[in-house]
Amino acid sequence: MPASRGKFITFEGIDGAGKSTHVATVVDLLRARGLDVVSTREPGGTPLGEKLREWLLREAMHPETEALLMFAARREHLAQIIEPALARGAWVVCDRFSDATYAYQGGGRGLDKAKCLSLEDWVHGRLQPDLTFLFDLPPALACARIAKEGRELDKFEQERADFHARVRQAYLERAASAPHRIRVVKAGRDIEDVKKIVEETLVTHCLSKN
Ligand code: TYD
Repeated sequence: MPASRGKFITFEGIDGAGKSTHVATVVDLLRARGLDVVSTREPGGTPLGEKLREWLLREAMHPETEALLMFAARREHLAQIIEPALARGAWVVCDRFSDATYAYQGGGRGLDKAKCLSLEDWVHGRLQPDLTFLFDLPPALACARIAKEGRELDKFEQERADFHARVRQAYLERAASAPHRIRVVKAGRDIEDVKKIVEETLVTHCLSKN
């Protein structure tokens, strides 16, 4: 039996905020400390979740269908991966979680927040991340970063600037409502500076007692 439940760390931000780079940094840092780390993502993280991801990132659908499928993938992810890992004392590092549904389906698509709340309550009741990094930057800058990569864009990345502005706003409102959990990291600065802030936050918030 592990001495305690592992920690649950999530990464959020508008598309192009650069979070994926920092997921890798955190995973490396935790593993270097000898911790058992599960690195995963949403939507996805399980065979069924990855199939749902394909639909969610490609197919047009009603905003409520989109939110329901996000939470369906999440339920499977929690049951198969997240909950067992935390129970055995592993740390879970997840690229996006329910804050993304509030931001994209709530803020971006205009889905009633109360509906997100009831789905969240149903799917993961009292389980919340211990720490969430929210990478924040102006949508125009994020859009320029994505354009530079020169790859094919998914359904969300193809949305107009006002969609991304609403997603950003919803993320910031969520951060203001949960300041103990969500750390806003200004992501427009130099990548090495952002990395340093991420490492320091992780150490103070989660590792100081380990
Ligand atoms: P993303 O995490 O940006 O993956 P990659 O780094 O491979 O591009 O892509 C996932 C997309 O799914 C992103 O645009 C946000 C969206 N999304 C939602 O709309 N709602 C959700 O609940 C989640 C988890 C993601």
